[in-house]
Amino acid sequence: MVVNILLTLLAACSAVVGVPTAQTGLDNATLAKVKANLAQIATHSWEIGTQLETLLELEWPELSVFGGDIPPSTRLPSSDTAADVFAKTAEIVPNITDIPGPLINGDGAVGDPASLGVPVLLTNWTRTDRNNKFSVAASNQLNYLLNDAPRTEDGAISHRTDQVQLWADFVYMAPPFIAYYGALQGGSVGAELLQFAYTQCKLYRKYLRDDSGLWKHIVLGNWTDTTHWGTGNAWAAAGMLRVLETIRRSSEADNMLSERLELTSWINEILTSAWTFQQTNGTLLNYLDQPGSFADSSSTALLGAVTYRMAALTGDLTHVSSADDAFSVIKASLTDDGWLLNTVDPLTFNTPSVPGSYSPEGQAFVLLLHSAWRDYTAAFQRR
Ligand SMILES: *[C@@H]1O[C@H](CO)[C@@H](O)[C@H](O)[C@H]1NC(C)=O
Ligand SMILES: *[C@@H]1O[C@H](CO)[C@@H](O)[C@H](O)[C@H]1NC(C)=O
Ligand SMILES: *[C@@H]1O[C@H](CO)[C@@H](O)[C@H](O)[C@H]1NC(C)=O
Ligand SMILES: *[C@@H]1O[C@H](CO)[C@@H](O)[C@H](O)[C@H]1NC(C)=O
Ligand SMILES: *[C@@H]1O[C@H](CO)[C@@H](O)[C@H](O)[C@H]1NC(C)=O
Repeated sequence: MVVNILLTLLAACSAVVGVPTAQTGLDNATLAKVKANLAQIATHSWEIGTQLETLLELEWPELSVFGGDIPPSTRLPSSDTAADVFAKTAEIVPNITDIPGPLINGDGAVGDPASLGVPVLLTNWTRTDRNNKFSVAASNQLNYLLNDAPRTEDGAISHRTDQVQLWADFVYMAPPFIAYYGALQGGSVGAELLQFAYTQCKLYRKYLRDDSGLWKHIVLGNWTDTTHWGTGNAWAAAGMLRVLETIRRSSEADNMLSERLELTSWINEILTSAWTFQQTNGTLLNYLDQPGSFADSSSTALLGAVTYRMAALTGDLTHVSSADDAFSVIKASLTDDGWLLNTVDPLTFNTPSVPGSYSPEGQAFVLLLHSAWRDYTAAFQRR
């Protein structure tokens, strides 16, 4: 396979040059502050979903989709308790278990509550009692996405409940959950769900990507945002990466080679285009290709994280220096108290966060960047 050839070539090179990154990670005290601040301000469905995915990557990497096989063992090793993640799913799920539908109030979004689905599925998979409330909640969420949510004629699930409207954000929220559900189920049902998650990525790209290689933010419905929003592109690339890794670690990995290659090229397409607009200090702009736009550290951090993970996965180091520069500006954008500065306001998309307020997703993306850098570095040290 092409990837294996690349990895072999790379192993030969890295023996000479060492680990190919100019960066060092964040120290534990900084990570702890960033994490505590994230917990303090994550309140919306997608913020909590992203927070829990982030805790898995940062603290329990073997349980994340970038760690071991999927499904994981049903019995957790004592070192991998994921206690903070399971405490949060236990808080959320009883609130809605009996209602067929999304896992949590999504403020009108179809996709966002599904971001909680992977931690809820993992809670169910590794539980030690016979209570099936997490399983019921997850299947209610899946059924809502598959059977109730509005769709385009060709089958793209709407990101909104009240009309058919596609947002790049959806790609991080729902397809990774659908894929993980399938990877756990296995068999023909699991294979169909993995294929369905891939197809959602394909359809979303069909509607949102344009000739620049970047994705528009929002199309269809009664208003649109056709800018190349930094965070929208980051959500799309990071969501497709989660789907790719879930497929790769599942029993369907060998049956879905062409889908994996396509996802790989779709992620790279965003990275390649986005980094051409990187500013001299490493930041990206809120509207990636609009020179007058303000600097946005949130999208810079998440696209940096995707870049390190893709480099570890494919052995293609083309964009690593961009990720290194991104990590530099993220370090320079952190206060001593662990708050990320220079973020876009995630609720307006088009204004910077006002002084004294911070971005929950931006806090998470800092931790995802560190985790991706750590795993990338470890992957090369093993070679
Ligand atoms: C930082 O935390 C990691 C993970 O808990 C641990 O392995 C490492 O030893 C810690 N580093 C220091 C310098 O305490
Ligand atoms: C769950 O419901 C309780 C009680 O109404 C509430 O205090 C808590 O904030 C809810 N948690 C979530 C995550 O919705
Ligand atoms: C919940 O876990 C049980 C036991 O591992 C498993 O049989 C079931 O399929 C899981 N439910 C979901 C929705 O994954
Ligand atoms: C778009 O349509 C939805 C659903 O009918 C409605 O709630 C919303 O206010 C409309 N927004 C605009 C900008 O027209
Ligand atoms: C990086 O440069 C941008 C201008 O391109 C600026 O707005 C931003 O504040 C800079 N970031 C830091 C941490 O200096």
